[in-house]
Amino acid sequence: MGRFYITTPIYYANDAPHVGTAYTTVNADAMARWHRLIGDETKFLTGTDEHGQKVADAAAKHDMSPKEWTDQKSAQFRRAWDVLNISYDDFIRTTEPRHYESVQKFLTAIYDNGHIYKDVYKGLYCVSCEDYYTTESSVEGRCPIHASVLVEMEEENWFFRLSAFEERLTSFYNDHPNFVTPPTKRNEAFSFIQGGLRDISITRTSISWGVPVPWDANHVFYVWYDALINYLTAIGYGRDADEVATWWPWSHHLVGKEIIRFHCVWWPAMCMAAGLEPPAHVQVHGWLLLGGQKLSKTMAASGSVRLTDIAPIDLTNEFGVDPLRYYLLRETALGNDGDFSHEGITQRYNTDLANNLGNLVARVTTLVVSKCGGVAPRPRDNSPLRPGAELALRTAADAWNDFSPQSALEATWGLIGATNAYLELHAPWKMEQGDELNAVLGDALEAIRLVALLATPAMPEVCEAIWQRIGLSATPGEQLFAVSATWGQYPGGSIIVKGEPLFPRMKTAE
Ligand code: MSP
Repeated sequence: MGRFYITTPIYYANDAPHVGTAYTTVNADAMARWHRLIGDETKFLTGTDEHGQKVADAAAKHDMSPKEWTDQKSAQFRRAWDVLNISYDDFIRTTEPRHYESVQKFLTAIYDNGHIYKDVYKGLYCVSCEDYYTTESSVEGRCPIHASVLVEMEEENWFFRLSAFEERLTSFYNDHPNFVTPPTKRNEAFSFIQGGLRDISITRTSISWGVPVPWDANHVFYVWYDALINYLTAIGYGRDADEVATWWPWSHHLVGKEIIRFHCVWWPAMCMAAGLEPPAHVQVHGWLLLGGQKLSKTMAASGSVRLTDIAPIDLTNEFGVDPLRYYLLRETALGNDGDFSHEGITQRYNTDLANNLGNLVARVTTLVVSKCGGVAPRPRDNSPLRPGAELALRTAADAWNDFSPQSALEATWGLIGATNAYLELHAPWKMEQGDELNAVLGDALEAIRLVALLATPAMPEVCEAIWQRIGLSATPGEQLFAVSATWGQYPGGSIIVKGEPLFPRMKTAE
């Protein structure tokens, strides 16, 4: 047992929560839940990024002050994450006093260490990225990510001497081969460093919506510079050195692939410059892309055609919270791009949830009611299901530990498949009452108990409901994995009542 500090990027408060940001947040939540399950002392941080030009522009467009606007937006993020059953321990807003204090202390440390200087900056700026581009890195004067026309800007700015950290970053990467995962993304980050680093401008005079620079009242910090520091604000940087020492060595940032440079190059260099170790690990994920398939009725009704227009709440209304969480975790390996579609969710729902998991639970509980008078039998120590179950437990646990929810769920569904096949083989529905029937059903009940334990980081409510169905009063998410994940603990003897289907079948889109 150890510690685990997991963070999501803080989301821009100019936008509403959408499927893309839900994807990151659900993945981080499943990781946090897994680590709590294995007994790690866990802290899960998410929040909103509330400074910068983009947010100031959005507020002005809605005739609101930036503060009013971000109050509204951050509340919207919290609501969405609450609906998705996101178990964050802290929700940070970069407009909070605690953050101002940490940012100012952190950047003053870098300044005092001699890594910040003043110069004039001229360049092409993308407001959506809140970042500068060079003529070479732009695409015919347009942003390579947003395709918007870049704006020529000239400012007197304070600069961070990033170029001075090339060698230290290179050694750091060589000494910490798993600093960034998966390896393809690590190589991408490393090649940024090998390609040569330029100093970066870290303050702005053109806007006032930001954290004031303590040593120069005309400047505010550039939004990315203040944003990254949120990961330290939340563990007390500048206020509580013990708390920083408690959590920082166990830090894991989960981020989308478009913000690799900030998290895997700038951020470790900033930490070094401030006299701190870089974070322990950055896990990069790919993008969900809308595959161009038919949209659901809700999506069509709201006129949504872009992924960033799809509100997670519309999907939970249609499919339920846990099925959406399952789909987001199961469909795509973390690190790869994935296709998001209405057909995809419907298919996962009908196949994996209704046919495989739902059917297994329904079959077994119905048989216990009809053939065993509702009293659950016990599993056998030497059950033929046991070796497969033990393998699934090991494989899924390794995968969860390895930031691979997709493989963890695949292994779990392997056990569901094996249990359904075991039932087909023995056909308990044709058996008379007696030891053999009890043995088969007891084994299946134990497999169901273990499946729900393994899937609880992904589907906490459904798994709790499954444990109730099989007569267990405890909650799978509140167990200690090492204690609960051994074959044979299903006690038997409980009274089982047949319930409503866990996953009523969905109609496939016409
Ligand atoms: N505010 C910055 C992050 C600062 S962190 C110190 C930011 N915010 S954002 O609102 O644009 O959110 C970006 C994150 O949302 C991505 O890194 C990614 O995690 C997630 N996603 C946004 N669109 C996505 C997809 N289409 N697919 C998957 N994830 C997506 O960048």
